[in-house]
Amino acid sequence: MLDACGRDITYLRVSVTDRCDFRCRYCMAEHMRFAPRAEVLGLEELDRLCAVFVRLGVRKLRLTGGEPLVRRGVGDLIRSLGGHLASGALDELTLTTNGANLARHAAALAACGVRRVNVSLDTLRPEVFRSVTRRGELSDVLAGIAAARRAGLTVKINTVVLAGINEDEIADLLGWAHGQGMDLVLIEVMPLGEVDPWGGDRLVPLSLVRARLAARFGLTDIPYTTGGPARWVRVAETGGRLGFIAPRSHDFCRTCNRVRLTCTGRLYLCLGRESAVELAPLLRGSESDEALCGAIRAAVLRKPTGHDFALGTAGAGSAGHPALARHMSVTGG
Ligand code: 5AD
Ligand code: SF4
Repeated sequence: MLDACGRDITYLRVSVTDRCDFRCRYCMAEHMRFAPRAEVLGLEELDRLCAVFVRLGVRKLRLTGGEPLVRRGVGDLIRSLGGHLASGALDELTLTTNGANLARHAAALAACGVRRVNVSLDTLRPEVFRSVTRRGELSDVLAGIAAARRAGLTVKINTVVLAGINEDEIADLLGWAHGQGMDLVLIEVMPLGEVDPWGGDRLVPLSLVRARLAARFGLTDIPYTTGGPARWVRVAETGGRLGFIAPRSHDFCRTCNRVRLTCTGRLYLCLGRESAVELAPLLRGSESDEALCGAIRAAVLRKPTGHDFALGTAGAGSAGHPALARHMSVTGG
């Protein structure tokens, strides 16, 4: 599936639920209005939609949320999607999780052909963890990570860098992750949704984080890529890899190969834009996948060339207003 600028869309991120057992402050409001249950696609419907995308050329599927592992029956969906790995139609099936329920699921995930998981973890301090997630327990996540590793899964840690919250802890997170052979990815906080009870933007430009780390560690750019937006360095002291995802500081849209599907069947062509296509009516309107395929192809051709998370530009993300009204839990980051 080529888009209008020649980008080959091979990566689908699927938010299997917009719900989560956490309420991370940068992601959700304390009291969230979630999608009405009647609008949430059934697991069979999600399975069918994913199969259509795979048939159209998607080679990599990532399940996200909200928190994918809080959806009842998600194991059945993962098993079914794993079939595309076995048939060779899909290269990779993976998920992004908060890790809290990972201990329960790790062995089954590995058995379904999942090889890698991304775990979101912003701090190793239990009180800070509780404050950032509003209701999470750090020990659950650490147990989940350990279980995943025991099951043979490669774990990558995603950390959203937050001014005044964890920016002083990045070196510790680096030492901890690399000490266990896990890649660490630092992410700039993005202005999405009305979530900000913190009184203002918590952005720390990753250029600054990198400069601070460079005072203590030897950082060397490496050409490593997972096909995503991260730029990678090797850390001399640990031998580990460190990634930077800086949507607000620089542009990676030129090589973007992904689209996003929500649990209500809405297809977003760009994380940073509002335009979306409703696939649910097409899915439910016919047993044939023909109309769906046509709509997906047409949508991909209209994939925006770029996003606008830039700070200080008129409108988007400036003056404490979110660049988008949509929460990250809708599209799964
Ligand atoms: N800015 C940056 N990252 C975010 N995530 C959720 N909300 C935001 C935000 N506003 C991240 C989570 C997780 C992934 C799913 O998205 O921490 O790593
Ligand atoms: Fe849940 Fe992840 Fe959002 Fe935190 S960032 S509330 S763990 S979906």
